[in-house]
Amino acid sequence: MKREEFSSSLGFVLAAAGSAVGIGNLVAFPVMASKNGGAAFLIMYAFFVFFICLPVMLAEMSLGRHTRQNPLGAYTEIGKNAAWRAVGWMSVITPFMIGVFYLVITVWIFGYLAKSVMGQLEFLAAPDSFGVFINSNELFIYMAVVIGLTFLILQGGVKRGIEQAARVLMPLLFLMLIALVIYVMTLENAELGVKFFLIPDFDKMTGKVLNGALAQAFFSLSLAMGILITYGSYIQKGNNIVQAGKMVAGLSLLVAACSGLLILPAVFSFNPDVQLSELSESSISMIFTFLPKIFLALQTNIGYLGASFIASFFFLLVFFAALTSLVSIIEVPVASLMDGKGVSRRTALYSLGGAMIVLAIICALSFGRVDLFTSLTSYGLGADGLPLAKSFFDLVYDIFYETILPLNGLLLCLFVIYRWKKHNFDAEISQGNSTFAGSLLQKYINFSLGTFIPVILAVIFVNTVATVFFGKNLLF
Ligand code: PHE
Repeated sequence: MKREEFSSSLGFVLAAAGSAVGIGNLVAFPVMASKNGGAAFLIMYAFFVFFICLPVMLAEMSLGRHTRQNPLGAYTEIGKNAAWRAVGWMSVITPFMIGVFYLVITVWIFGYLAKSVMGQLEFLAAPDSFGVFINSNELFIYMAVVIGLTFLILQGGVKRGIEQAARVLMPLLFLMLIALVIYVMTLENAELGVKFFLIPDFDKMTGKVLNGALAQAFFSLSLAMGILITYGSYIQKGNNIVQAGKMVAGLSLLVAACSGLLILPAVFSFNPDVQLSELSESSISMIFTFLPKIFLALQTNIGYLGASFIASFFFLLVFFAALTSLVSIIEVPVASLMDGKGVSRRTALYSLGGAMIVLAIICALSFGRVDLFTSLTSYGLGADGLPLAKSFFDLVYDIFYETILPLNGLLLCLFVIYRWKKHNFDAEISQGNSTFAGSLLQKYINFSLGTFIPVILAVIFVNTVATVFFGKNLLF
């Protein structure tokens, strides 16, 4: 059977940008940047995106296009031994499990969207609503809708499903983001937020912050999840991989920077005296507890209906971003099953989707509803010197997102440079890019992927294990 393909380079760029632009860009980035040095963080982040993440991205895309396979197939075909095959398995299980927790968060976002549209903004802005909401039965209705939409897109296949959805949702997403930025700029005291975001504070650049920034850039570009290998396998041979990769990285960075210009002015217009310590610690608390309060406060200017409209608009934006990311991550195991077992897209989707739904339900029940899942285990070190209690959701997050992601990235670099070999990698990129061979870029990519990038990823990996599981941060 002929492999499915994106219709053009633009089709790939939109689909990959759909994967990259997600909750990470829209919320996690502004929160991190504002706490860690504003523009200094942005500059570091941009540097990481182009000098560390982009080479990894190109390696994944080339590996996919060369083998025309999912990650498991690609590692098996070129690795030719059991060890590399095991790495291939890890590259398929990781996105499957990250997909589980990302599905749960996407369901929460959709729930907040639905509630804002139904005029329940006041409920969302009340102090305990988030806890009440994530433990309500309603959640399962929202889950059914999100799963339905995701399946509908994936069922359409590469061109008519994934690419088509990205062609509609991504331009809408950009327009909505710009419209919201323009709107918050008109609010009183918005300029304080812009200043706060754009004035660099280089003193904040500690090892810990740099580690966080790189991990965030990695996650945000959907690296080491097998996504770009899989999407790469749908790129046409004549397309220019380097140009496409640069565009995806650039778009993702642009959205992150614009989101800073959306979130911070909104926060400062709500409270011009806001202190750093009051800003949410995590993107979850920012989206689900902090922002609803800000939206509700808009009612003094534009009435409750106006405030609900702005809130709905924002949640729709985040929902589009999350949906295209969710689609990309589920496509990885789906493609693996289709390639590996020769089953149809529908069979792959329904069997994997079924397993994913069961796990997502367990995640959703692990916030207090079912004791077993809520206090599943404990490890690490809390402020009180005792291990931290961890739920099923925490466990999935800590293992697959925090720990295995940098490990997968590290192994991928070693695989491409030392197993697949530089000259094969270069030959693949050169198809559709005649000036690549012999260029400075080629030298940089080959050198970095074979030397300092895997070293940096190894440091992140070791430090994450030490921090998360043993409560000891090794970086200052
Ligand atoms: N890039 C996404 C983000 O920034 C992360 C992601 C992609 C998560 C794909 C899951 C699946 O939110």
